[in-house]
Amino acid sequence: MAHNIILQPSRTLMEFRLLPKLTTSQTAIDKISLKTPLVYSSDSQRKYNLNIPIVSAAMQSVSGSRMGIELAKLGGCAFIFCSQPIDEQVAMVSTIKHSKAGFVKPKVVPPYMLISELHKLRLSTDYNVFPVTDENNRLLGIITRNDFDRTLHGSLQVQDRMIPRANLVTGVNTINLKSANAILVESHQSVLPIVDENDKLLYLVFRKDIEDHLNNPLQVVDHQKRLICTAAINTHDYKERINELVNEGIDALCIDSSDGYTEFQKNVLEWSLSEYPDVPVIGGNVVTADGFRYLVDHGARAIKIGMGSGSICITQEQKGTGRGLATAIIAVSDARDKYFSETGKYIPLIADGGIVNSKDLVIALALGADYAMMGRYFARMEESPTETVTINNRIMKPYWGEGSNRAREWQQRRYHQATFAEGVEGFVEYAGKLKDNIDRTIMKIKSTLSTCGVSSIPELHQHAELELVSSLSIREGKVHDVFVPQNNDYLGDNDQF
Ligand code: IMP
Repeated sequence: MAHNIILQPSRTLMEFRLLPKLTTSQTAIDKISLKTPLVYSSDSQRKYNLNIPIVSAAMQSVSGSRMGIELAKLGGCAFIFCSQPIDEQVAMVSTIKHSKAGFVKPKVVPPYMLISELHKLRLSTDYNVFPVTDENNRLLGIITRNDFDRTLHGSLQVQDRMIPRANLVTGVNTINLKSANAILVESHQSVLPIVDENDKLLYLVFRKDIEDHLNNPLQVVDHQKRLICTAAINTHDYKERINELVNEGIDALCIDSSDGYTEFQKNVLEWSLSEYPDVPVIGGNVVTADGFRYLVDHGARAIKIGMGSGSICITQEQKGTGRGLATAIIAVSDARDKYFSETGKYIPLIADGGIVNSKDLVIALALGADYAMMGRYFARMEESPTETVTINNRIMKPYWGEGSNRAREWQQRRYHQATFAEGVEGFVEYAGKLKDNIDRTIMKIKSTLSTCGVSSIPELHQHAELELVSSLSIREGKVHDVFVPQNNDYLGDNDQF
């Protein structure tokens, strides 16, 4: 006989509804914050917070550098997939880390560089502005593409054409973006060099980045004001991969596996903790309290929950393993709360796989998750790495599982593993720009929190009341017994977010 047989069925997110509670002026939609911790951090460790409770899945058809940049600007982050060679993954991370988020570490040039060489550098880097510094990195001037003509000035040196230091307005180290903007507006410059007390160059602030920043007030940045970037790792080439990702400034790592309750993950966690104690590693996926405790005891600083619930997932069918996502979140949240009472350490939980719409997402949060990882949602966006195709007059994007034959091809070549498919390949309906979709999703989540009488995710955890619903009740909750001509206001089951 089996060790344990649970006769209560495992539950899915769509089987729950939230009960309304008193909405006050303090819980009106405009008062709600969706800020949430990415990982656990002790008092002495760097804090990582997301401004929206949404991250994109570490999948080839979801999280490339474009998604990484756009999602971090909107308050979340993308987990760059690891089913690719290390140098390619690192290049994606590098693109995100060097994208503009206010304070940019510039490419500097020496004063004696020939203008012809500068022209070549400009073409190879795509930069238009180069600060000129001496051997001690002290600012001597700035040269932009408007300051020279390649044919007329090719044999001159940079110092002959640069705007000299004396004519430049600069900011000091302690300046924030708002004050940098104020100085820029007065200076007539399009770029502001930030220097330290010895006139050594630290950053450049571009006027167009400030505008971008003001348009994206929720963007998540690291301590150097670069966009946050997270990446997946595996349990095979993790040593080399982590070394390279850390060198590139990765903010957090996530071990990518459908089953995280393994000694292999323990090995990764222990190695990473000993080599890079400050780089947080997220473990998973788990669906039980034991799985949670095992990974956290070995150093995981957040835990991803879910097995078998992803839209492209066939793990349950293939292996008979898995758990309804709601039941998994309930079990793991309970373990997390007990761990918190024991140790005072709050381990964030990530609901992963099978979140179909905003209501599922908010139910996952209410049950105890701190944020959600999604694949299908993001695969539909303009910013996912795939091209659109038209099928039966509908605009679609391809979407495939990391365990599908298509994604496994690379892994099999690399690790010579004989495995079987745990995912499928398909298409999802194109949904347009990420920002429009995220704005709508966030508005719906805030509206739910308001109805539940809470103004933050921690308050939701504390006060949410949920109820299981019957299938008849689910039917009652949809439009019923009226004829709705097709229009864009109500798409029924097609209104997926
Ligand atoms: P979705 O948001 O429902 O599309 O689920 C995305 C999640 O499915 C990912 O974050 C992974 O946890 C999981 N996943 C990705 N690829 C596969 C696969 O091939 N098989 C099973 N699960 C997968």
